[in-house]
Amino acid sequence: MSTLTNTDIDPDETICNNSTNGITISDNLDAAAPSPLDMPSRVLDGATRVERAWAHWKALGAPRFMVAPMVDNSELPFRMLCRKYGAEAAYTPMLHSRIFSENEKYRSMEFSTCKEDRPLFVQFCANDPKILLEAAKRVEAYCDYIDINLGCPQRIARRGYYGAFLMENQPLIKSLVETLVLNLDVPVSCKIRIFPNLDDTITYAKMLEEAGCSLLAVHGRTRDQKDSTKFKADWAAIRAVKQALRIPVLANGNIRHMVDVNSCLEETGVDGVLSAETLLENPALFAGYKTVEWREEGDEEGDLDQADLVVEYLKLCEKYPVPWRMIRSHVHKLLGDWFRVHPEVREELNKQSILTFEWLYDMVRRLRELGKGDPLYGGRNVVVDRIAVNAAAG
Ligand SMILES: Cc1cc2nc3c(=O)[nH]c(=O)nc-3n(C[C@H](O)[C@H](O)[C@H](O)COP(=O)(O)O)c2cc1C
Repeated sequence: MSTLTNTDIDPDETICNNSTNGITISDNLDAAAPSPLDMPSRVLDGATRVERAWAHWKALGAPRFMVAPMVDNSELPFRMLCRKYGAEAAYTPMLHSRIFSENEKYRSMEFSTCKEDRPLFVQFCANDPKILLEAAKRVEAYCDYIDINLGCPQRIARRGYYGAFLMENQPLIKSLVETLVLNLDVPVSCKIRIFPNLDDTITYAKMLEEAGCSLLAVHGRTRDQKDSTKFKADWAAIRAVKQALRIPVLANGNIRHMVDVNSCLEETGVDGVLSAETLLENPALFAGYKTVEWREEGDEEGDLDQADLVVEYLKLCEKYPVPWRMIRSHVHKLLGDWFRVHPEVREELNKQSILTFEWLYDMVRRLRELGKGDPLYGGRNVVVDRIAVNAAAG
């Protein structure tokens, strides 16, 4: 894609500008954490923990519509865009706990937040409780849950021994959860995939609850069901988990528009839903907008299109800087439909080894001149009531 400069720094790996609106690890969060394993432990009985889990959830406003964790894609400006359009909580991308603990550059490149970016789940992958705790301690003051990624099915997770590859080592998972619960002030959540066998899934989920997990997000696919276009998420399994547990449970998989959200809440009885891939094309999903793919009879053309959302996203990136790699990825996904109509513009974008905001705004302007792409549909009847967030997102 891009040609490296003669200093061998990939421009996509640089931050898009130097403004300082967000909080990054290099500003405030870099203070040496207290030695975490020396902290007093918080041993509570199961019933009290469950009560606290619900009290915490309710104090956050019982959020139902969530931005799922996405490496390189659920970063601060994208979270803020989704919040403006109805998302009630969001996960950071997965952060690698060991690298996060050791490497200041990784922390400042991969994590930033701001005071309006709440409720926030900060997600880590890990296989060592002490290292996970060290990483979590650095961010616990800036989030509402520390989340453990127990669902990543990718080869990199197999090699690094984390995510869904820990599913066969439940004693290790238990100790990851317990170590955080005993030593953090902020509650612990987990995101899992299901086992092929429902009983195994239920036993697993109950173990997590027993270990002190305060909220469980269940992606209704197994570790081997990587292709979401081929495998439908199993909402019946999610419903069974919800019925078996006492803590809040979230569902993940097959959420493409608000009709899915409502069906999922109804069919599974969960407390909220996560959406990932669809939000990348349509960050306004939770405000009732649909891409043309999901248009049904009676759905009217909305007052928003994907180019509008790109412009809003770019403005948020100017305010809350992130690596260009993330911006490039969002522009491709948001404008995918428009680029299919005008592939020459996509090619031009691919040729830009160094991006600038001016160039990107101009590209959107030229795309519009070439002819309007599809609008988003619906959205008008949905009240986005998070006015403070709207104001923050500008
Ligand atoms: C680009 C991308 C990055 C992802 N990164 C993460 C991640 O960092 N942590 C995680 O738990 N899941 C990650 N996932 C999985 C999603 O959170 C979600 O579980 C999955 O995509 C199914 O939801 P969906 O059907 O709404 O896409 C990622 C998915 C995508 C598309």
